[in-house]
Amino acid sequence: MSEHDTNLYGTVHGGVVMKLIDDAAAAAAGRHAGVPAVTVSVEEMTFLAPVRAGDLLTVRARLDHAGRTSMDVSVVVTAERWNLTGPVTRVATAQLVFVAVDADGHPHRIPALVPESAADQRRERRARERRSRRTAGSADRPGPAVS
Ligand SMILES: CC(C)(COP(=O)(O)OP(=O)(O)OC[C@H]1O[C@@H](n2cnc3c(N)ncnc32)[C@H](O)[C@@H]1OP(=O)(O)O)[C@@H](O)C(=O)NCCC(=O)NCCS
Repeated sequence: MSEHDTNLYGTVHGGVVMKLIDDAAAAAAGRHAGVPAVTVSVEEMTFLAPVRAGDLLTVRARLDHAGRTSMDVSVVVTAERWNLTGPVTRVATAQLVFVAVDADGHPHRIPALVPESAADQRRERRARERRSRRTAGSADRPGPAVS
């Protein structure tokens, strides 16, 4: 992070970190889908510790669940402080939903995600639960046409 990214308080703008999160999550979703994926929802975004100019950030995005055209992605952001000698600090977490789109911007069907490890299976189950909660009440809605 450079000082150009900081706010009046001398810490990095949340929006700068949010863009990194969105970029990393889009890459993970697009890689799985094989087509571009657009952000449809930010389900959770938590800033756990301030980020400062000079910090080296690492942004890791992971696909938790793939639906018909949408994907739940979790992101963890860590910081190595300026002198790079201290502990790696977790500074933000986020959960986002992306939708794979075709060339016309319409939802595009994606491959299923097959969770392998026990941890992957747990994350998949939790993402399914989140998905059930957000679609509660719209379960009877007919599905849209997808390319
Ligand atoms: C994303 C977009 C293509 C979805 O179109 P839509 O007609 O609303 O999509 P549908 O209702 O057919 O739903 C498609 C999928 O998105 C999911 N979805 C739609 N709205 C959602 C929301 N608010 N939160 C979570 N998932 C959502 C649906 O559950 C569905 O998932 P499934 O196919 O896995 O079952 C459209 O809303 C859009 O273009 N949004 C703008 C995206 C954008 O510009 N993002 C910022 C820049 S990348």
